[in-house]
Amino acid sequence: MEKFIIKGKTALQGSVRISGSKNSAVALLPASVLTDSTVHIENLPDITDVRTMISILEDLGVKIRRRGRNAVELTPGSLSKIAPSYDLVKKMRASYYFMGSLLARFGKAEVPIPGGCDLGPRPIDQHLKGFAALGAKSSIEHGMIKLISEKLVGARIYFDVVSIGATVNLMLAAAAAEGRTVLENVAKEPEIVDLANFLNAMGASIRGAGTDVIRIDGTNKFSGARHTVIPDRIEAGTFMLAAAATRGSVVVDDVIPKHLEAITAKLREVGAIVEVEPETIKVTGVANLKPSDLKTFPYPGFPTDLQPPGMVLLTAAKGLSVVTENVFDGRYNHVDDLKRMGAHIKVEGRTALIEGGNSLSGAPVSAPDLRSGAALIIAAIMAEGVSEICAIEHVDRGYDRFEEKLIKLGASIKRAKVTELDCSTGNTE
Ligand code: EPU
Repeated sequence: MEKFIIKGKTALQGSVRISGSKNSAVALLPASVLTDSTVHIENLPDITDVRTMISILEDLGVKIRRRGRNAVELTPGSLSKIAPSYDLVKKMRASYYFMGSLLARFGKAEVPIPGGCDLGPRPIDQHLKGFAALGAKSSIEHGMIKLISEKLVGARIYFDVVSIGATVNLMLAAAAAEGRTVLENVAKEPEIVDLANFLNAMGASIRGAGTDVIRIDGTNKFSGARHTVIPDRIEAGTFMLAAAATRGSVVVDDVIPKHLEAITAKLREVGAIVEVEPETIKVTGVANLKPSDLKTFPYPGFPTDLQPPGMVLLTAAKGLSVVTENVFDGRYNHVDDLKRMGAHIKVEGRTALIEGGNSLSGAPVSAPDLRSGAALIIAAIMAEGVSEICAIEHVDRGYDRFEEKLIKLGASIKRAKVTELDCSTGNTE
């Protein structure tokens, strides 16, 4: 296990290149099993979740060729297994996309109930309801979700909640179903559009991705394809919020500004200066940040994944800010450690009240999940003195060379080995 040792009071300065999107990559990789031919995926982020996903594909029998740190060639022709291994699947939530992609390929799949960040209850009822509508029977046996269908047949499916995971899984299964599927009340995130583009390049017929309704005409002919992953809007947003919170000035490079409009708007609302160019955004912090209300919503709203770093920014704004988490029940894992660093935050249900303006002070803390970990790192860069952040394996799951990029922006961060004793103040599992 490792920890970060961060010396604070640094204003981040400079430019940072944004990597490929984690949440796109972890959907594109399982989607590749729909074909027998070779697919090339470029601009993959070099993160633990992508490495785990590639190990799952290898374990299933897919031929893998790494092309440097950020590209891979996958040939699923020899794929034979329908049950990804529990030891790999438990490491990440998106491994449940093998439900949709193996169902599409073999008409059956056996996928262990997945792991992932602890953000409160994360049901999969909408996935199973969708699979059932396409004609697949599901059962849960010994911690395994078993799916089987004689033939997948297109259907009209209205999702009760907007879910990225359910939208992805049903796009995968419906791409190979007989006839037309209409998915209503779907997620509209850019990662959904990226997946639709990839599947269409493989021979699928998917229209409407990025709107509330997706229409899919199923096929059983999938070809090879070449695809470049879109930039990671959550990584970009993390650096943008960090720039404003540390009163620095950072250019995020290689981004799609349209995907970042909710963050740009919120930063302007708190008084930061945001300059948008076709492929870059420059964020400059100001001394007197203004408090604001922040409400998370599915895209194009303010993303729940940026709520923890957004909250850190609001601790720097003098006055009362209110955060409302509308997507997940329990996404306030970072609050206790922010309070240990001197932040004034009170959580009541889905709402957090932040009395901002006092400076934070370094403390030993522990990353409870990926985005909370990023938030604590930003807080440590803002704080007076030294912080030690344990359980950084959560951060390595989803941020490509995070500390290297932060060091280039001027942060003082060292990675060090830990003993259990070192990290006994926090949750290290
Ligand atoms: N939901 C249900 N039933 C379902 C599915 C979802 O009630 O069958 C609820 C969830 O409990 C939640 C809401 O719907 O309240 C949205 O969940 P969603 O299914 O959209 O989340 P997810 O697919 O599990 C993805 C991202 C998360 C991100 C959320 C929300 C991936 C691999 N994960 O999760 O990313 O927070 O959407 O935007 O794309 C992260 O990157 O750190 C991360 C956690």
